[in-house]
Amino acid sequence: MRVLVECPPEVLLSNKNPAVNPGIEILSLFRTLQGIEVIQLTEVKEQVIPFHQADVGEEEAQAAASAVLSGWLTMGPKTIEFEQKFASYVGAKHAIGVSSCTAALHLALDAIGLKQGDEVLVPTTTFTSTAEVVCYFKAKPVLVDVDAKTLCIDPVDAERRITEKTRAVIPVHYAGQPCDMDAIHAMAKRHGLRVIEDAAHALPASYHGIRVGAISELTAFSFYATKTLTTGEGGMVTTDNEELATRMRMMRLHGIGRDAWKRYSAEGSWYYEVLDSGFKYNLTDIQSAIGIVQLAKCDSMNAARAQIAAQYSKEFAKERALQVPTVGDHRDSAWHLYVLRLNLEEISITRSEMIEKLKERGIGTSVHFIPLHMHPYYRNTYGYLADDFPVASKEYQRYLSLPIFPRMTSAQIDYVIENVLEIVKAAAR
Ligand SMILES: Cc1ncc(COP(=O)(O)O)c(C=O)c1O
Repeated sequence: MRVLVECPPEVLLSNKNPAVNPGIEILSLFRTLQGIEVIQLTEVKEQVIPFHQADVGEEEAQAAASAVLSGWLTMGPKTIEFEQKFASYVGAKHAIGVSSCTAALHLALDAIGLKQGDEVLVPTTTFTSTAEVVCYFKAKPVLVDVDAKTLCIDPVDAERRITEKTRAVIPVHYAGQPCDMDAIHAMAKRHGLRVIEDAAHALPASYHGIRVGAISELTAFSFYATKTLTTGEGGMVTTDNEELATRMRMMRLHGIGRDAWKRYSAEGSWYYEVLDSGFKYNLTDIQSAIGIVQLAKCDSMNAARAQIAAQYSKEFAKERALQVPTVGDHRDSAWHLYVLRLNLEEISITRSEMIEKLKERGIGTSVHFIPLHMHPYYRNTYGYLADDFPVASKEYQRYLSLPIFPRMTSAQIDYVIENVLEIVKAAAR
């Protein structure tokens, strides 16, 4: 945590001098014509455990450096290699590298031909990307309540909200656990809907032994900095459908026909044709080089996260004030998030107070998510009310996400467990 302190120059001679007290560092010196007037100092309190720390190091740095040194900086051979490796890892025929999961979802909706006035079912407990891409088309994101057990989209509530305008459903594999895809596919079949999975949290996850990415017609992944595989920013969309893949490849690069990226290479040609008004959504070779390294570590990083989740749950399950996450039958979670729920009737503190107390002890946390129907944009534009989503509205009051990342040490895991238990015990009713 950094706290700004403003003080006069004399302070440099006091014990706040960073040379004397290493807990303080000079942030900036404000100079005037007369010389130094105010010095800003920061007190640096080391946060003991950040909410997230990416598992990246020397190997990723080397891979990025060689991509730079190759002289090919944008999308090129490394992106093609990453796409092929990713497709084979999840078991899909095609994987198309893009700049984000948001871009992947946008391209997927474009590929199914979403039109103005159409409706798309989206769980309310998600990040805004899942719904905002629907708005890009002037179509309507129809928010759906979630299942109390998994916090994934509730297929029964989804079916209730289908109208003659509904074209698609975007199930979000919340925290890394696959949704009830059997029920979603059955519903989609009954009503002729397209299924686009938002798998921003779900690499590697599986359902009935099939990897997410090979289950539905279209699946979108995120490689954002906090995700289970990161390229800093980035994403991938997978499909088995050749026609959809061709459309998405074209639209990710300005709607230019085949192999647009090759036009500056020796085998490319200066001539190109624009076939539609596309987007600038390509993934670069620098990002892909990092992605290839990360993909090779994907299983071991997942095992580390699963181990942390198991340790947390073993200890937290004993405490009446806590509800641990559960993974449904025939599902393997990517454990992108560890979402702990507080049984608020058992304790005298709120979820937000719990977060503050953990912060004081140097433990970073987060909340996933503020349901979309509670945000001004979705509330004001579509008139959604908290009562329309009783499960999501209630659960939101009592969940928080704890640190879960492959580099967590046993001491850090123990520290989180100890402090969570200590706080809830002290607040027991
Ligand atoms: C469920 C969900 N979908 C989509 C996204 C968007 O991912 P990106 O940042 O790669 O666009 C996120 C990002 O946090 C997310 O949590």
